[in-house]
Amino acid sequence: MKNKVLNLLKENKNNFLSGEKISKEIGVSRAAVWKYINTLKEEGYDIESISRKGYKIINSPDILTYEEIKEYLNTDFIGNKIIHFDTINSTNIKAKELAETGEKEGTVIISEEQTLGRGRLGRIWIAPKYKGIWMSIILRPNINPIHVAKITQISAAAVCLAISEMEIEVYIKWPNDIIINNKKVCGILTEMSCELNKINYAVLGIGINVNIDENEFPDSIKNTAASIKSALGKEFMRKKIAAKVLNHFETLYKQFIIDGNTNKSLDICRKKSIVLGKKINIIKNNKTISVKAVDINDEGELVVEYENGETENLISGEISLKNFYNKK
Ligand code: BTN
Repeated sequence: MKNKVLNLLKENKNNFLSGEKISKEIGVSRAAVWKYINTLKEEGYDIESISRKGYKIINSPDILTYEEIKEYLNTDFIGNKIIHFDTINSTNIKAKELAETGEKEGTVIISEEQTLGRGRLGRIWIAPKYKGIWMSIILRPNINPIHVAKITQISAAAVCLAISEMEIEVYIKWPNDIIINNKKVCGILTEMSCELNKINYAVLGIGINVNIDENEFPDSIKNTAASIKSALGKEFMRKKIAAKVLNHFETLYKQFIIDGNTNKSLDICRKKSIVLGKKINIIKNNKTISVKAVDINDEGELVVEYENGETENLISGEISLKNFYNKK
């Protein structure tokens, strides 16, 4: 009901709407309308109210509800349903719970903050309130589980395209980090439930540091993490960026589910790669090894060359790239 009031106000954003008109349109009492208006104000909506004229919306907050994101969204199914939380442990955990109970493909879980954000390799992910985009997309691709890494590559490409629209140089550190000025601004965590040759569901978790100030990062990640704001020196609208990521993701993902084609995503991952052609350290079986990153193959694996000239295709779960960020 609250959203019906909001939609009516947005549809009539240049006029005052009387409490009576709203109450008739949506079939609730005027007292209820007043209550919904107050809730919207508490959520950050700037609504002017003048007696005998009614209500007029002046400004909408940068919150990540469906109502706010939808005006920038042009997808068919990704983000058609957005489940929004003010706070949650982890959107990936919630998405998995919902996927287990049948939530459909394309549903997005977004929270304004996470208290137990999950990163790759068991790390934690810092996700402070209203400062970033912490979201998980439920996917049900009809593919063999061995191809799931491609979803991470598709989403890295989508985030890269979305952030590039802000006229900043954005790079991808294979497999799942988005880098600006040599620091990480976004991480991607794809999790799945599968059988031998079938995926039940995949959960694609995307965390983008948008408006976190430099001094808000804990000491442990200060040298390696950044936000779009800390890199560019100004705040950005999270809702617009979230919609752009979903738009780009759907375009690239559709191609993948139609015919398994990830050429466009992989081209972006290669072109924007910050590791290809460079010497990097990988940690494999607890050993640090120096290798050269030579390619990202059509499976989305990183092809590396050892000092003895041998090459190997690495899948993302196996390795972590070490001491990378401050290298040139
Ligand atoms: C990484 O780089 O280690 C991956 C980080 C992924 C973070 C996102 S934030 C939204 C989603 N929910 C989580 O708990 N994690 C992912």
